Amino acid sequence: MCGIVGYVGKKEASPVLIHGLSRLEYRGYDSAGVAIIEDNILKVTKCKGRLANLEAKLEQNPIHGSVGIGHTRWATHGEPSDLNSHPHSNEDETISVVHNGIIENYIQLREWLTAKGYKFNSETDTEVIPHLVDYYYKGNLEEAVIKAISKMDGSYAIGVVSTHEPGKLVAVRKDSPLIAGIGEGEFFIASDIPAILNYTRDVYLLNDKEFVVITKDGIKLLSEEGDEIKKDIFHVTWNADAAEKGGYEHFMLKEIHEQPKAIRDTMTSRIALGKPITLDKITLTKDQLENINKIYIVACGTAYHAGIVGKYVIEKLARIPVEVDIASEFRYRNPIIDNKTLMIVISQSGETADTLAALREAKKSGARVIAVTNVVGSSVSREAHDVLYTWAGPEIAVASTKAYTTQLIAMYIIALYFAQYKETLSSEQIEEIKEAMLKLPEQTEEVLKHKEVLQKFASKNYMHRDMFFLGRGLDYAVAMEGSLKLKEISYIHSEAYAAGELKHGTIALIENGTVVIALATQEELFEKMVSNIKEVKTRGANVLAFAFEGNETIEKTVDSALYIPKTEEVLAPVLSVVPLQLLSYYMAVQKGCDVDKPRNLAKSVTVE
Ligand code: M6R
Repeated sequence: MCGIVGYVGKKEASPVLIHGLSRLEYRGYDSAGVAIIEDNILKVTKCKGRLANLEAKLEQNPIHGSVGIGHTRWATHGEPSDLNSHPHSNEDETISVVHNGIIENYIQLREWLTAKGYKFNSETDTEVIPHLVDYYYKGNLEEAVIKAISKMDGSYAIGVVSTHEPGKLVAVRKDSPLIAGIGEGEFFIASDIPAILNYTRDVYLLNDKEFVVITKDGIKLLSEEGDEIKKDIFHVTWNADAAEKGGYEHFMLKEIHEQPKAIRDTMTSRIALGKPITLDKITLTKDQLENINKIYIVACGTAYHAGIVGKYVIEKLARIPVEVDIASEFRYRNPIIDNKTLMIVISQSGETADTLAALREAKKSGARVIAVTNVVGSSVSREAHDVLYTWAGPEIAVASTKAYTTQLIAMYIIALYFAQYKETLSSEQIEEIKEAMLKLPEQTEEVLKHKEVLQKFASKNYMHRDMFFLGRGLDYAVAMEGSLKLKEISYIHSEAYAAGELKHGTIALIENGTVVIALATQEELFEKMVSNIKEVKTRGANVLAFAFEGNETIEKTVDSALYIPKTEEVLAPVLSVVPLQLLSYYMAVQKGCDVDKPRNLAKSVTVE
């Protein structure tokens, strides 16, 4: 869950690496470092803390050279410290490595290498790699890296440079993302596209155990047997601006405001009035669909919350039983899967280790897999049978916002697609939902206009230690997402509760002034929700409610209310989550938190 970058070209490597790392900091920010070959000497600068610390060090002691690697770390093995920062080098400092992933057998490798006289300085698993490469180096860097990785178990994307061959960079991946960029007389490696977008939009999307060997003269790709392989160049369609803040104070705020467009883009070419729903990359036939008797939706974090909405809408609209599971639980609980099972994995990054592992488990047992992901060419997109892309554009803030709302749109599209095939809804009913969906971008714009109310609420309540989110049905699913958002960026403890369940224990925590955010968009459950709100009000809660326009009667029961434009009830989550995202954002800003890079977190969790 770190970010790696590498450069070989004519420019000074240092600023290119620093720029790349600034675009990868979302993957981890416990420490950062670079290794650059300057006049055939390996120069490494690294330190604990944010990239700014590394930049300051490099300003004081610049390194000149046009071949280098860089790293931004989310600590797994070994605390964040200067010593544990990457790059890691061999003893005589001729070989240096950056690594994203976990070497699972590093203890055995460490013992093996120690017995051969190698000395270790850090507590990291990564440090075995430069020593292994050193051990196998017999005059050809790529051969040494190929041999080294044949000893390693676990996940990795690594970049290696060496003074033995000062103009060369070798990289390889397994279960951790890696791309290679092709510029004009310059080449790059990176964990993610934004790191190199300033320089090129032509990339190779690497598969597991594909090696990249870069010199100033060119780039070649090798198989694990060392044979040269050919691959199509992938041309990135978005430009560097998409990964910039564009005038907003934080990426999160920018991404919240990008939701109308992201929602529209995700529906384009799939949802049109009077036409059947078309899903270009889904090849599931009517017969295959008829054969399916159970769906699992598997994901982590926010994507899991989108899955909970998915369960509700697929069951309601297409009448197929759906189970939703957290990927890290699913993969170890031996679920009942066969060739009548359909699995839908949801992952913004498409690289989440547990989600990917769950996908592989399900495939092994015969399930058909649809991936819902935001990243073209990501691991889940390549390994699933079918893909439905959410066209949200790059999401940089650690807290997921536009990815979530577009994942919801994907859930509606899949549910309607199945309903269309299975004829569980009439064509008129499908048209009505589609018509309402097409209005969502504009309605989201409307919701965004309520910013100031939420900003004011946040400024009055940001000092609270605990908050509660209540809802029933789909509102409960959204409450979970609202609660996660608040926790992760403002560090305010919060819990989401099914409103009817509160009185079975948690209501004991409600006291005078406790903030309760109540969602009440579900018409059939509205009165019951109002009763639940009264239960907490009676015990002193300060309640902010969200309801549809037209349900202003709720004001009699709550302290403050905010209304969202009327839509089909099943679509309410798309609109009701937006004020919750804004609320969390303003709470975090009031508290002075680092909104885009919350403590202890990283955007892409590529380790178990
Ligand atoms: O890339 P993925 O969608 O697989 O990521 C899953 C979670 O790690 C992610 O949604 C996480 O919960 C976000 N930080 C929430 O805002």
